[in-house]
Amino acid sequence: MTTTPKILAFSGSLRKGSFNQQLVKIAAGGAEAAGSEVTVVNLRELPLPVYDADLEEAEGLPENARTLKALMKAHSGFLIASPENNSSLSAALKNVIDWASRREGDETPLVCFKDKTAVIMAASPGALGGLRGLNALRSILTSIGVLVLPDQKAIPKAHEALSGNGTLNDAAQQESIEALGAKLAGVLSKLHA
Ligand SMILES: Cc1cc2nc3c(=O)[nH]c(=O)nc-3n(C[C@H](O)[C@H](O)[C@H](O)COP(=O)(O)O)c2cc1C
Repeated sequence: MTTTPKILAFSGSLRKGSFNQQLVKIAAGGAEAAGSEVTVVNLRELPLPVYDADLEEAEGLPENARTLKALMKAHSGFLIASPENNSSLSAALKNVIDWASRREGDETPLVCFKDKTAVIMAASPGALGGLRGLNALRSILTSIGVLVLPDQKAIPKAHEALSGNGTLNDAAQQESIEALGAKLAGVLSKLHA
């Protein structure tokens, strides 16, 4: 008997009209169509202070960091779309990773990341689509124990590529992003069969 793969989908943007949040929702649709259960989270709704060790020592993890950690622990796969800021991943995404990497109580170290599987993607108005940010994100996730699948996509000219109604204008591009979600769903099914 196989269990339904559970995937957490989120972008590293806090912006209301985020291209990356739109993108990750398309991938989430592909994962759902391939039989997985997907939870889409918008980091805008779970604001976090910038990681500060003194704050952590005084107050412990912020409530939203605990919420995110619980979500991450409850899912075996991640779909992540990252904006590219100055050739790297967004500060908001790095901040989430930093808070979620903090151990509480008798937790296994890096419990949110170890043995998780991820697919990453990006969208940017720029010509490279955020590709350089993905290299940084892949390196970070890999170093904390996430299996990041080789399949990834960066969508350039995102302001033209996204239709504004939750799809990509180009059918082939739409399919390629849905396929990223389906790929993660398929790999998780095999890993957890
Ligand atoms: C501080 C800053 C740095 C940026 N650096 C890059 C960059 O290096 N490469 C790029 O393609 N876009 C860059 N951008 C543009 C973002 O990719 C663009 O704002 C994008 O829409 C952000 O993603 P979102 O729509 O999901 O919020 C930068 C934007 C900001 C605010």
